Amino acid sequence: MYRSHNCGELNASHINTEVTLAGWVQKSRDKGFMIWVDLRDRYGITQLIFDEERTPKAIIQEAKLLGREFVIQVKGNVIERSSKNPNIPTGEIEILVSELTILNKALLPPFTIEDKTDGGEELRMKYRYLDIRRNPVKNSLIFRHNVAQAVRNYLSKEGFIEVETPYLIKSTPEGARDFVVPSRMNAGQFYALPQSPQTFKQLLMVGGMDKYFQIVKCFRDEDLRADRQPEFTQIDCEMAFVEQEDILNAFEGLTRHLLKEINGIEVEKFPRMLYDDAMRLYGNDKPDIRFGMEFGELNSVTQHKDFGVFNSAELVVGIAVPGGNVYTRKEIDQLIDWVKRPQVGALGMVYCRCNEDGTYKSSVDKFYDQDDFAKWAEITGAKPGDLICVLSGETYKVRPQLSALRMELATRLGLRKPNEFAPLWVIDFPLLEWDEDTKRYHAMHHPFTSPKPGQLELLATNPGDVKANAYDLVLNGNEIGGGSIRIHDKKTQSLMFDYLGFTEEEAKAQFGFLMDAFQYGAPPHGGLAFGLDRLVAILAGQEIIRDFIAFPKNNSGRDIMIDAPAFIDQNQLKELHIKLEGLDK
Ligand code: AMO
Repeated sequence: MYRSHNCGELNASHINTEVTLAGWVQKSRDKGFMIWVDLRDRYGITQLIFDEERTPKAIIQEAKLLGREFVIQVKGNVIERSSKNPNIPTGEIEILVSELTILNKALLPPFTIEDKTDGGEELRMKYRYLDIRRNPVKNSLIFRHNVAQAVRNYLSKEGFIEVETPYLIKSTPEGARDFVVPSRMNAGQFYALPQSPQTFKQLLMVGGMDKYFQIVKCFRDEDLRADRQPEFTQIDCEMAFVEQEDILNAFEGLTRHLLKEINGIEVEKFPRMLYDDAMRLYGNDKPDIRFGMEFGELNSVTQHKDFGVFNSAELVVGIAVPGGNVYTRKEIDQLIDWVKRPQVGALGMVYCRCNEDGTYKSSVDKFYDQDDFAKWAEITGAKPGDLICVLSGETYKVRPQLSALRMELATRLGLRKPNEFAPLWVIDFPLLEWDEDTKRYHAMHHPFTSPKPGQLELLATNPGDVKANAYDLVLNGNEIGGGSIRIHDKKTQSLMFDYLGFTEEEAKAQFGFLMDAFQYGAPPHGGLAFGLDRLVAILAGQEIIRDFIAFPKNNSGRDIMIDAPAFIDQNQLKELHIKLEGLDK
C-alpha cells in the first residue's frame, strides 16, 4: 500500500493516527535540528516534520537530501502543529516522520511549481506535465471534468444517447481546411480527420437514434487565436422530429443547468436576437450584452453637411462611452491610434465630448453645430459626461471596427465582468455568405443547413437575402455553440449543392452517401454543437481555451512538448506512397 491517506485530508480528528502518505516534495526548510517538508499531491499539501529529538538520525540524514519534486513515501504519526496554518485544510496538523522512502529523485524543475510561477508560456508548454502539478492548471482540468460530467448526466437524463463516430473519414465541410491522413493500403488516397461529426450525426438520425450526443474531438486546420485550437472538443448533438424551437429549448435547458450546477447562477429565459439586429446594434454576430454601448447609426444626421468623409461613407456609426468625457486629449489620440492599428483597420475616428453642462465639443466642430451633436447624443444614447466615438466607411468594414472598439473600451471600463453571464440566441443567420476571394457564395453554416420555409425560391434571384434555420448560442461575447435545422430531402440538398457550385458529379462523389440515405426515410432533424473548450473557459470567467486543455498546441499549431508535427522517415513515407518535393528530409 503506497498510502493510507492523501495529502489533503488529514486534520485534527486524525491526531495520534499512524499514516502513510506519498507525494511530491513542494519545498523543504532545514533549520538544522528540525526539517519541515511540504508534501504535495492532487488533493493538497501536508506538512512533514523531521525532528532531531524524535526522528531516527538516519532518516534525518536522508531528509536532508530531499530536493524539490522528489517523489517520496513517508510513514509517521499525525501530531498537532505548534504554529497552525488556517489557510489550508491540513493546517492544524503535521506528520512526525518515522520512515522515509525516496520513490524517485527529480531534476530541479525549470520553473517553480507554485500558483504564481516564474516560468514563461513556452517553457511551461514544453514541460506541461510539470505545469499540470500547479494548482491553476490542475484546477482548470478538474473544472473541465466537472462541466463535461454535468453535460453527460444532463443529456443522458434527457434521453440522449452518446454514440462514437469515426475519426478517419472523408472531408466534412465546416469552412476550415482538413487535416488529412494518408492511407497505406490505398495508394494515393487520404482520409480526412473530421472538422465535426456533422454528416454522421445526420446519418444517426436516419438510423433512428432520435437523440444523439457526443463529446468529441474535431480537427480544423485554420489560423489559431485565443479561442481556437487545431484540435478541440465539441459537445455535438442532434435530434429528430424537431423544429428550431425544440432545439433552442433543449439546449437552453442544458446551458441553464450548467450555469446553475457549475456557477450557482439562475438565468432567465435567454433573449433571442435576429442576426441582422446583432450586426446593426453590435456590429457583430456574437454580441456581449452584459453592457450597453449599442451602436447608433448616424447617416441621417451627419450626411449632407460639408464633411466629405461622412458624406461619402456607406455607414456612419457611433457608440457612447459612459463617463468617457474625462479622457484627456492624449488619451483620445491613443484611442484613435488604437482603431488605426492594422488589426482593427479604421482610417480614423471622430469624437464628440458630451459636457456636463449639456454642451458638446467635437473633433468636427467646423462642420456641425450643437443641435447636430444633440442628435448624435440622442441616437447613441449618450448622456452628459460621455464621449461619442464615430467611425465611418463601408458597412462590412466599419461594423467590426466599431465592435472591436466597443469591446476594448468595455474591457478597460471593467464592464466585462467575468462572473456575470449573459447568454443569448442569435437566430435567422443568412444561408449564404459572399466570399470576395473566390467571388462566389459559400454556405455560412454548412451546406446541410435548411433555408427558412418559403425562401428557397429566393436563392435564384437574391441569394444573399435568404435566411437559414440556423442559430448560434452566444455567451459573454463568445460563440459557444451553433447549429441548424437540416435539409432532409434529396431534392433540396441537390439544389443546395448546385447553388454552392458543386457539379452533380462532385456532389455525388463527396456526399453521395448522405443523399442516398435521404432516400431511405430521413426524418426531419436538426441539432447544434457547443465548443466545450470555449464553454469551459467562459464558465470559469476566462477566454483563453489553451488553459483548459491538458496538452494544447501553441500558436503555430505545434505541440512543443512532444515536438510535433515532425518529419517521418523515408521508409514510412515510401509505405504511404508519398514523395516530398523540394524538402531535404
Ligand atoms: P461550428 O463550426 O459552429 O458548428 O462549431 C461549433 C462550435 O465549436 C466551437 N469551435 C471551436 N472551438 C475551438 N477551436 C476551434 N478551432 C473551433 N471551431 C469551432 C465553437 C463553435 O460554436 N457541425 C456544426 C454544428 C451543427 O450544425 O450542429 C459545427 O461544427 O464554439
